[in-house]
Amino acid sequence: MRTNDASSTLLEVKDLSAGYRDLLAVRDVCLSVHPGEVTVLLGRNGAGKSTVLLTIAGLAKRASGQILLDGADITSLSPYARNGSGISLVPENKRVFRRRTVEENLAIGGYVLTRGERRAAIQNAYERFPALHAKRHDAAGGLSGGQQQMLSIAQALMPGPRVIMLDEPTAGLAPAIVNDVLEILVSIQAEGIGVLLVEQLVDQALSVADHVVLLDHGRVQYNASTDGLHDFEQLRNIYLGKQSG
Ligand SMILES: Nc1ncnc2c1ncn2[C@@H]1O[C@H](COP(=O)(O)OP(=O)(O)O)[C@@H](O)[C@H]1O
Ligand SMILES: [Mg+2]
Repeated sequence: MRTNDASSTLLEVKDLSAGYRDLLAVRDVCLSVHPGEVTVLLGRNGAGKSTVLLTIAGLAKRASGQILLDGADITSLSPYARNGSGISLVPENKRVFRRRTVEENLAIGGYVLTRGERRAAIQNAYERFPALHAKRHDAAGGLSGGQQQMLSIAQALMPGPRVIMLDEPTAGLAPAIVNDVLEILVSIQAEGIGVLLVEQLVDQALSVADHVVLLDHGRVQYNASTDGLHDFEQLRNIYLGKQSG
């Protein structure tokens, strides 16, 4: 029996290969996300990080491999069904609907919910993000960059996901806002949600990470718990050691 403790695996990606037309952008990727824990996916530009997240969400083409949510195979589900079963994605670059109001954007994030559920989820979002409540009738395009990022995270939280994936959520944000985003991640994690985070700010990412997966040219080069890993320098040494070995 599965229990809802951190030792059980919430999301498991097994030997995933995926890509675009004739390009296999990621090959044989294995990673897992546990309840209430953060798995950070690192790698250079073009390493395949976004492709991994998109394929888990059902938005990029899988060539082979399996995706399990709480032990159930969701590999052949539609993006809509994956979202409904507990996987949410905050995509790279903000995807808020600029001309829609904040509240309309939240409603869109909860498209898999019933009307009643959606209304309750919007209230939850306002409790978590009071700044969004203050601007609920404003067009999302008028929000600051940081507020737009909060809105896209709030959208992804609308269906009550078990796993939330965030693709470079701090990109382009001022340092003070970066900390706000990281604090939100910590609060999400504290609720038992599993987090799969792609982040360019390696030190900040490692400061919240329980597991780290390093991708290089579409392949996993390193995958381990951050227990005993103290800084990026150490990770880099491990990485370089593996490469030369
Ligand atoms: N829509 C696409 N069509 C074709 N190739 C793509 C597309 N998106 C990404 N790629 C290619 O797939 C590889 C991995 O890209 P990506 O997953 O975006 O990497 P990362 O997020 O780590 O920067 C790169 O070689 C990139 O050029
Ligand atoms: Mg990317």
